[in-house]
Amino acid sequence: MTHTRSPAQEVAQLREQLNEYNYRYYVLDDPSVPDAEYDRQMRRLQQLEVDYPELLSDDSPTQRVGGQALAGFSQVKHELPMLSLDNAFSSDELQAFEKRLQDRLGSTSPIEFACEPKLDGIAVSLLYEDGVLVQGATRGDGSTGEDITANVRTIASIPLRLRGDRLPPLLEVRGEIYLPKAGFEALNERARAQGDKLFVNPRNAAAGSLRQLDPRITATRSLQMCCYSIGRVGGFELPSKHSDVLKLLNGWGLRINAEMAVVEGANACQSYYEQLAIKRPRLPYEIDGIVFKVNELGLQQRLGFVSKAPRWAIAYKFPAQEEMTRLLDVEFQVGRTGAVTPVARLDPVFVGGVTVSNATLHNMDEVARLDAQVGDTVVIRRAGDVIPQIVKVVLERRPHNARAIVLPRACPVCGSEVEREEGEAAARCSGGLFCGAQRKEAIKHFSSRKALDIEGLGDKLVEQLVDEQLIQTSADLFSLSLEQLCGLDRMGEKSAQNLLDALDKKRITTLPRFLYALGIREVGEATALSLARHFLTLEALQEASEEALLEVDDVGPIVAHHIQRFFRQAHNVEVLQALQARGVSWPAMEVNPDSRPLEGETWVLTGTLTSMGRPEGKSRLQALGAKVAGSVSAKTTVVVAGEKAGSKLTKAEQLQIPVLDESAFVARLAELEGQG
Ligand code: IVH
Repeated sequence: MTHTRSPAQEVAQLREQLNEYNYRYYVLDDPSVPDAEYDRQMRRLQQLEVDYPELLSDDSPTQRVGGQALAGFSQVKHELPMLSLDNAFSSDELQAFEKRLQDRLGSTSPIEFACEPKLDGIAVSLLYEDGVLVQGATRGDGSTGEDITANVRTIASIPLRLRGDRLPPLLEVRGEIYLPKAGFEALNERARAQGDKLFVNPRNAAAGSLRQLDPRITATRSLQMCCYSIGRVGGFELPSKHSDVLKLLNGWGLRINAEMAVVEGANACQSYYEQLAIKRPRLPYEIDGIVFKVNELGLQQRLGFVSKAPRWAIAYKFPAQEEMTRLLDVEFQVGRTGAVTPVARLDPVFVGGVTVSNATLHNMDEVARLDAQVGDTVVIRRAGDVIPQIVKVVLERRPHNARAIVLPRACPVCGSEVEREEGEAAARCSGGLFCGAQRKEAIKHFSSRKALDIEGLGDKLVEQLVDEQLIQTSADLFSLSLEQLCGLDRMGEKSAQNLLDALDKKRITTLPRFLYALGIREVGEATALSLARHFLTLEALQEASEEALLEVDDVGPIVAHHIQRFFRQAHNVEVLQALQARGVSWPAMEVNPDSRPLEGETWVLTGTLTSMGRPEGKSRLQALGAKVAGSVSAKTTVVVAGEKAGSKLTKAEQLQIPVLDESAFVARLAELEGQG
């Protein structure tokens, strides 16, 4: 914007905007912009108020700690205000922080700091009288919060009574209530399945969960609490260091952060920050920075406070995981099964440590749920290695010329009709292998690792081969010549020959791999294996009736339908014939009674199987002949206990049923499948 604004106008606008953001964030639990944007505007306002002190006023958002208390909960006055923290964004700002402290303290020696991850949740205060939890309150605006006693009582990590016998008569503990990443994902998965609005981030979800008027809902949300300081304390002599106070709290049964460390000087703080930045994606909870606190409580007292924050602490923030950008356009990509996926083209934005210019919109239901239009300002989130997501649209910024996102009626690649089956989220191109995009994806799948595993045939090369019209189907791979390959960009004679050798070698394969490689919808590795074991030959499978297909353990009506449809399509049969004509073959499946080595056994899966997920574990067991049951009884043969296995594991132990952990299970599967 180039029109000139007076500083007074800009200040007024910033205040109005920031007040609005605060209301959305604190009162409605529905932030409208990412924190980074809020921080920028707040910093700009602070700067203007420094440059033009005459513009400073008591009602400026810079002079206020938070928002207002929600109606519906009774209010709690904080005898000692709950403060906020100043931020640093660079190592220079961290050095400057230590220098300010040294100047105030009239010292030049390095300062001892306690370092703690800055958890991204909700600040709360817990009041214990004679060791008994009597009140829980949110921070609210720092001086008045909401009484959430009933809700905090539902959080397992908050003791209702402190441990130990030398307890203070009065103790106010402060800390953060947050939702671990896994809980956040589970909550959003449920919301997505029910078509509800998703939570933008774990903090937002924690706030929403904590402020439930019905504490029974809070109880279902797997919230956690981690303590980081003490408010009021009566009748008790505290240790002289913050780090020892935390250890004391820990001894009383309160959670503190396991990453807490004590270091000397700003340089050591910088290293701690860098180490945690590396660890961050692997932590089970979200953090948005590191808090450094002067460790000596005596020094903290001497340093004191400025209006809203202590002088003795600072929050050194990580690069933001949420940012705003413009949705420039939406393109539709066609996948192997014809699924037509909307992909957002974004104005490139730096978020979560990388520049993001594309994000998947998944399907048209997602587009509708977000209410996204081309031209909108959107919030992008990229946490850890997770693919970037559009988490919300900033509706207030929708331009007048915003354009609705419309599913094309014709496939953008081949022009065939795009269909959307009832009850399915995905729209599909009806062109099948007539469609260049589906052909490319089908061939990529055919040569992928779990299929024919053709070394040296990467995605880019497949695209090139199809674009140059050297191949139409996977069968054509086997009639490629050295001359054809050498004519391609960046393809030397040696790599061309290597590819031909690899193709030749993989001509001899196995029936399960071959069936998987065909890319029949819903036929994954495990189903392909079951089918091969059941029917033994390709011909038998091709001719199988629906009833015959349904006899296979993990084949239901939908899978049976896809299999029959695949073999009814003439071009698929042609490709099958061509593959065999070009020498693709496999040894006959042995009619081996051991191919169902688990016949007659009943297995139970419990807990999280991180390497495959329970559905895959189940279908692989079924392929080996086992029954997979949902509960443990005397009839159970084996229980597989993944991470966080609960009551089923206990029951198995009571009934003395053999238990396998995940790695033992994986090893056993590999061994049994290898025999087949
Ligand atoms: S100390 C006077 N320590 O960050 C010191 N705060 O902007 C006040 N936070 O509202 C806070 N982790 O909710 C402190 N280890 C930690 C923290 C932490 C997260 C939050 C807290 C506070 C906000 C400050």
